Amino acid sequence: MAIVVHELEVLIEARYPLIYLLTSEEERAEQAIAAISQIEPTRRLFVWTLTHGIVEYGSARAPAQHNTVSPQAAIEWVVRRGEPGIFIFKDLHPFIDLAPVKRWLRDAVAGFKGTDKVLVLMSPIQQIPTELEKEVVVVEFPLPGPGELNELLNVHLSQAPDKLRILSDAGREKLVKAALGLTKDEADKVYRKAEVVSGRLTEAEVDIVLSEKKQIIKRNGILEYLEFDDTIDSVGGLAELKRWLTQRSDAFTERARQYGLPQPKGLLILGVPGCGKSLIAKTTARLWGLPLLRLDIGRVYDGSMVGRSEANLRNALRVAESISPVILFIDEVDKAFAGAGGSSDSDGGTSMRIFGSFLTWMQEKTSPVFVMATANRVERLPSEFLRKGRFDEIFFVDLPGDTERREIARIHLGKRRADTSGFDIAELSSSCEGYSGAEIEQGLVAAMYGAFAQNREFNQFDILAALKSTRPLSQTMTEQVSALRNWAKQRARPADSMSADYRRMEF
Ligand SMILES: Nc1ncnc2c1ncn2[C@@H]1O[C@H](COP(=O)(O)OP(=O)(O)O)[C@@H](O)[C@H]1O
Ligand SMILES: [Mg+2]
Repeated sequence: MAIVVHELEVLIEARYPLIYLLTSEEERAEQAIAAISQIEPTRRLFVWTLTHGIVEYGSARAPAQHNTVSPQAAIEWVVRRGEPGIFIFKDLHPFIDLAPVKRWLRDAVAGFKGTDKVLVLMSPIQQIPTELEKEVVVVEFPLPGPGELNELLNVHLSQAPDKLRILSDAGREKLVKAALGLTKDEADKVYRKAEVVSGRLTEAEVDIVLSEKKQIIKRNGILEYLEFDDTIDSVGGLAELKRWLTQRSDAFTERARQYGLPQPKGLLILGVPGCGKSLIAKTTARLWGLPLLRLDIGRVYDGSMVGRSEANLRNALRVAESISPVILFIDEVDKAFAGAGGSSDSDGGTSMRIFGSFLTWMQEKTSPVFVMATANRVERLPSEFLRKGRFDEIFFVDLPGDTERREIARIHLGKRRADTSGFDIAELSSSCEGYSGAEIEQGLVAAMYGAFAQNREFNQFDILAALKSTRPLSQTMTEQVSALRNWAKQRARPADSMSADYRRMEF
């Protein structure tokens, strides 16, 4: 918070004529600007809205300036005004592409030089016409930080009866941290809810705050909190990848920082479909003891308005950062960014821009958000994505070898039956060479259905028969699989060093 107010302050004090302030929290942003405007008492603050035209800030009864409801007229009024001032325009974005609005804005920029006038365009959506791109400086107003949330918490506590005002420092910190990532209004609601539910606001209410926050994140539709109970032991094979992940179990602790270790940035897991990429990504959260957030890039796209998709992505990444350390899981990232690599411009370049924003964010992020991305098809990924240094490592997950298939069979049998001594695991494994983990599991389930319909327990032969009756993907899609292997041989690290089939393969 402090930092960005500072940034805004610097820009305003430096007399930047045109500032685009991105925020969905008008009230907070307005207050921050009001505080800055007071540094110089001669500088007055005005606010324009389409409903009221230009009104001086702070005095609720102040009359609106005459005839300033239309955007053009309002900007004209500002340009013609001689005195210093800060002029906030709320939600000008639907009009910003109109020729007269653009023209007046350009006139404003030119005319303001050397004066003490600043125009602030405040909007939740970034929409800047090309003509203005060079003149505008874009500032993102951040969500409330710990300091501001702490103040909010104080307000709540001060309204509570005396005997309920006992909150340890540790408890306070947890309550504040639990609300990080919310807007001030949302945090306010969440604290109030906790008070209403349990009649007090103490450390014990952290869970209520957290679960409310999950609801809010769910509602935004782009991020999703995943609760996943399986541990990394439910993944067969992938020994190298498991080792890599296990070694980094404590990578986000204070101890690791003090040791001088950098924070891991992210991992890209490429490979054959159905071999456990998504599975191992999800189990990593448990292994590392971090929350797991899924980012659905498909839902970021919103063609309803220019700039909407970018705003969606930015918001989602901000929320992720605010609850860091966290694992940000992007499943099948090749599908999400498929349009960004090629020359196809079918969506007006939106996927290109979204991809660009995402890369920039990955490059610049300093908060501990670990990106865990999976992909099935490498040729659909834009090459910038794969460049060294973006991810800590790129792993390639191949079809399981004999040892791995045994592990997978054992895991899935073990999930369904306590006693698996009646099964010959070695025979099962050798009967399904070329099968993925998912296909082995499907074979087992099919066998169980067959036996269940006949009202009996399933056995070894049922599984063998079920496996035999399916054709694995590796047979129907031989070319794709070997193309992927070829690519990965040069550029990715095998997730399974033992994968004998992989090494035996002729390339
Ligand atoms: N290596 C494996 N170990 C255990 N189960 C596996 C493995 N690979 C796949 N499976 C089973 O198949 C399902 C689908 O696998 P998934 O992780 O979604 O594959 P991918 O993301 O690589 O396409 C998993 O949920 C799991 O039940
Ligand atoms: Mg998957």
